[in-house]
Amino acid sequence: MLKSPLNYVGGKYKLLPQIIPLFPNEIDLFVDLFSGGANVGINVEAKKYWFNDMNYKINEMFRFFSTQDPDELIYNIDEIITNWNLSKTNQEAFLAFRNYYNSNPSPINLYVLVAYSYNYQIRFNNSMKFNNPFGKNRSQFTNNMRSNLYKFVKRLNEIKPLFTDYLFEHLNLSDLKPNDFVYLDPPYLITRASYNDGNRGFTNWNENQELKMYNLLNQLTSNKVRWAMSNVLENKEKQHTLLENFIKNKSVAVHVLNYNYNNSSYNSKGVGSKEVLITNYDVSNGNILKY
Ligand SMILES: C[S@@+](CC[C@H](N)C(=O)[O-])C[C@H]1O[C@@H](n2cnc3c(N)ncnc32)[C@H](O)[C@@H]1O
Repeated sequence: MLKSPLNYVGGKYKLLPQIIPLFPNEIDLFVDLFSGGANVGINVEAKKYWFNDMNYKINEMFRFFSTQDPDELIYNIDEIITNWNLSKTNQEAFLAFRNYYNSNPSPINLYVLVAYSYNYQIRFNNSMKFNNPFGKNRSQFTNNMRSNLYKFVKRLNEIKPLFTDYLFEHLNLSDLKPNDFVYLDPPYLITRASYNDGNRGFTNWNENQELKMYNLLNQLTSNKVRWAMSNVLENKEKQHTLLENFIKNKSVAVHVLNYNYNNSSYNSKGVGSKEVLITNYDVSNGNILKY
């Protein structure tokens, strides 16, 4: 499995071996509706790819990556690192580079900044200034990251996805056909992550968004388009009652996934989380479930 070059909050890399086998076999257009770090879409086989996420900073970076030759990109990254004297111990250089980025933002500099940031996280304030601190003595552009980035960019070169920056409710999915497929990995209503705490320069996720998403799922089903959605039904004693009601009233299949939360990017979840993949089709034959 290929790994996103970003250590993305809520990224599905570890769950891919459980999620991807549940997807349909033949997919014309694969729509990754909340694509984030793009971990899922890049590992799916399809004829065409459409990645959408409201985080235009990440999309901008991936759009740029998809136009790059991987060797040249890595050469240019190394040049930036050398020119700015970046290292896992040089905090001054990191801060100077962060200031530079914030007045001259560019996708490649954002990637380099992330490589030297705390926990390799991408984080902005309300004015969309990058504000993640230095990853002192820990973060640097490692050989492992180099290799992940190389493979990721090569894959983007091959599959040439469309990246769009819409709020999901502004997308028009009415033209999708029965051989197209929509994967949804929304923020989880009952957990907290930096993209749904409402103060990171991006729209908050709330019940209203959740219900709009259920409407979209119903519309897709009426149009005979298959979808699969990741979510959690339980987290630290909290129940996702809205989702439980949605499941009760619809013909959907619920697949319980097994997650070992030994990963710092899953900071909002913990033991007692019930991670699921919900599908509107029977995974054994790909047929849409009847109401
Ligand atoms: C759980 S993450 C997706 C992770 C991704 N599947 C991966 O493996 O890298 C959820 C994503 O939803 C995006 N998001 C949140 N609210 C949104 C909205 N209203 N419309 C579109 N995207 C949204 C966030 O920016 C975040 O990237």
